[in-house]
Amino acid sequence: MKSTTLFTTLLTLALGALHASAHAMPNPALGITGRALQRNDAQRPSDDKPCGNVDIASNIDKATAIPVTVGKDGTSVSFNMTNFNGGGDGSRKVSVMIDPTGTGKNFVKANVTKNGDPAPKENTGSDLITVALPDGTKCTGGKDKNLCLLSVKSTAGFGACTVASQLASTGAAKSGKVPCKKNRRAVATRAARFLRAQARALEREAEEQERSLHGNPLFATTLL
Ligand SMILES: *[C@@H]1O[C@H](CO)[C@@H](O)[C@H](O)[C@H]1NC(C)=O
Ligand SMILES: *[C@@H]1O[C@H](CO)[C@@H](O)[C@H](O)[C@H]1NC(C)=O
Repeated sequence: MKSTTLFTTLLTLALGALHASAHAMPNPALGITGRALQRNDAQRPSDDKPCGNVDIASNIDKATAIPVTVGKDGTSVSFNMTNFNGGGDGSRKVSVMIDPTGTGKNFVKANVTKNGDPAPKENTGSDLITVALPDGTKCTGGKDKNLCLLSVKSTAGFGACTVASQLASTGAAKSGKVPCKKNRRAVATRAARFLRAQARALEREAEEQERSLHGNPLFATTLL
């Protein structure tokens, strides 16, 4: 009886430890709306399931979308990476892939220009991550056709997807200047030229990039 109790206690502790280890994810995250993120929400993104177990199609339009911004360094998005455990297991250092179609089937690599702490001291906290989108990225996902899907994975293998929304004015632009005083016809012509250039850039991008994976080596590994 005693040993059974001891065994049960140990098992509970072991499972508890397993459960508690190594969770971190982008905030906001696809599939979680109307409440704070919890440790158990963290996914293990894989090649086959870049958003873990979260269904993309039924969640993309419900997600809290982070804005795509245009600055000196090009087109980028920023989000918080939140950890629920300290140390390397709770790593907030990530690799990111982006799917401009929002379907989860067209992911390409994105460059992380500001990354997080690979071994946070605190058990829960956040780092602001900044990701440069590939040149010419045009978000076309969701019902309004302006969403991009990002798959975020930590060096410990945890993460989730998050959604970015692109205003028309940020469509692949680099300068961030909004034409205002020009006459409409000139603007329209420029816009058309711009769209054509964008389409060509996207084609080139697609040709250049083989189906790519997360930079984080654990991406291809099946964890637990
Ligand atoms: C990131 O988290 C900090 C602290 O909680 C918060 O102030 C900030 O608004 C968040 N930034 C984004 C882009 O969500
Ligand atoms: C990432 O950055 C490198 C170095 O600046 C650049 O050569 C590469 O084209 C970038 N890739 C993407 C997908 O933006």
